[in-house]
Amino acid sequence: MDARLAVFKKLQELDFAYHLNKSSGSLISKIKRGDGAFFNLFHSLNIIVRIIINLIIILVSFWFLAWWVSGITLLFIVLNLILIYFLIRYNIFTRRQFNKMEDEVSGIIVDNLINYETVKLFAQEDYEYQRLKKAFDSWFQALWRYANSFRLIDIGLGTVGNTLMVGLSIWGVNSVLHGQLSTGEFIMILGFISTFYWRFFDLVYKLRDMARNYSDIEKYFAILREPVVIKDPPRPLTLKRVKGEITFRKVWFVYEENNYSALRNFNLEIRQGQSVALVGRSGAGKTTVVKLLLRFFDIQKGKITIDGVDIRRFKKSYLRSLFGVVPQEPILFNNTLRFNIAYGRPEATEREIIAAAKMAYIWDFIQQLPQGLETKVGERGVKLSGGQRQRIAIARVILKNPKIIIFDEATSQLDSESEELIQKAFWQISYNKTTIVIAHRLSTIIKADKIVVIDKGRVIEEGSHKELINKEKSLYRQLWLKQTGLVN
Ligand SMILES: Nc1ncnc2c1ncn2[C@@H]1O[C@H](COP(=O)(O)OP(=O)(O)O)[C@@H](O)[C@H]1O
Ligand SMILES: [Mg+2]
Repeated sequence: MDARLAVFKKLQELDFAYHLNKSSGSLISKIKRGDGAFFNLFHSLNIIVRIIINLIIILVSFWFLAWWVSGITLLFIVLNLILIYFLIRYNIFTRRQFNKMEDEVSGIIVDNLINYETVKLFAQEDYEYQRLKKAFDSWFQALWRYANSFRLIDIGLGTVGNTLMVGLSIWGVNSVLHGQLSTGEFIMILGFISTFYWRFFDLVYKLRDMARNYSDIEKYFAILREPVVIKDPPRPLTLKRVKGEITFRKVWFVYEENNYSALRNFNLEIRQGQSVALVGRSGAGKTTVVKLLLRFFDIQKGKITIDGVDIRRFKKSYLRSLFGVVPQEPILFNNTLRFNIAYGRPEATEREIIAAAKMAYIWDFIQQLPQGLETKVGERGVKLSGGQRQRIAIARVILKNPKIIIFDEATSQLDSESEELIQKAFWQISYNKTTIVIAHRLSTIIKADKIVVIDKGRVIEEGSHKELINKEKSLYRQLWLKQTGLVN
């Protein structure tokens, strides 16, 4: 339980970038294996301790009866331990290889579970089946190599052990025939061989199990050692009274995967209570601005401040608590509407939840559902429409009541009624608050106090709708004319 909780906590702490790069399927397979290994390890350890005590008692007793039998046996143990060392190392190595393949297979399966819609839309069920089958090729090879490493252990230990047992027996028979050993002593040695060696093999098999568990747990705990890149400061600040002024000063930012800057010498100033619309072509860097503001990534050059304080001086959790974000494609928990709306403030009362739902224009919809607030929304919220999901996300932000609001407008076609409701809901909650809107719709843009046009990571134009539309060669004018269909 402790291990699971520790790993879960660590996964929550890990950076946004870690989650972008992970494969959920592989990760779950890793965690499951680590959990299982924990149980086995506990069991194996118990048995190993018992066997070792057993062996020691046998060895010591025989030391008094016939010291040389114990002597030879000790030699045998040393010889075998050397052999075991190398064999088990190889065994762990093959186990690791096999685990890698196993994780890959899980990755494909989970990716398919997530993408079920795409698979169906393209009728690629057979293709996916073949893809998985192909992944099983290397999986199968790795499994054989792993299985064979066990046979290698069997052969290695068997050869050494059996040689010694047969040798001891032949020597015993010979000694009895020549009168150097009494029959009683011979029987005793046989007894020794049959108890000791089998116990010893038991020990080796248990060690082998431990080796397997070791490599499983190793991967599991490696999660705990994953570095957190975006760190909290040693002595974090908090603001006495949050005004919600935001500045970007000469900010440069490159995503690790890219060799171009997503933001170049980016400057932005947002005053208290102002609403600012970010406008620009797809890929211009609008969403990046928001991610940097929430410190999902750290910038390479420049400074981002809130109320004049560098955002790196705040704890991440504090910084993010200042914002309410309505994402472009909100994702919901596979839980009830109530759970999802109250997510920003789980202690909210029924009345508050209903009030927020009303303000977000989603209450009418909820009310006519047979199960109302207790309706489950499906994985990621798939049972709701895009517009409904966004309004749930707005209700969630209303309950949180943050100082600064960020709204990434949906690019997908919403019907005009949904669009109108979302807009109404949104402007209602942003009243008197600092607001950043990544805007795609004209109605949203016109309402904003200031429009900032971004192109290739730079601010190229700034001003009110009127100012920008009247500039002859502005990109804004171009975008506007295209949207209104006046030119194409
Ligand atoms: N996590 C990421 N890793 C690498 N590149 C990214 C990542 N997110 C966005 N980008 C790139 O950064 C640029 C800006 O993206 P974004 O800010 O999402 O644009 P938009 O203005 O459409 O919101 C794009 O070229 C995009 O491909
Ligand atoms: Mg975007």
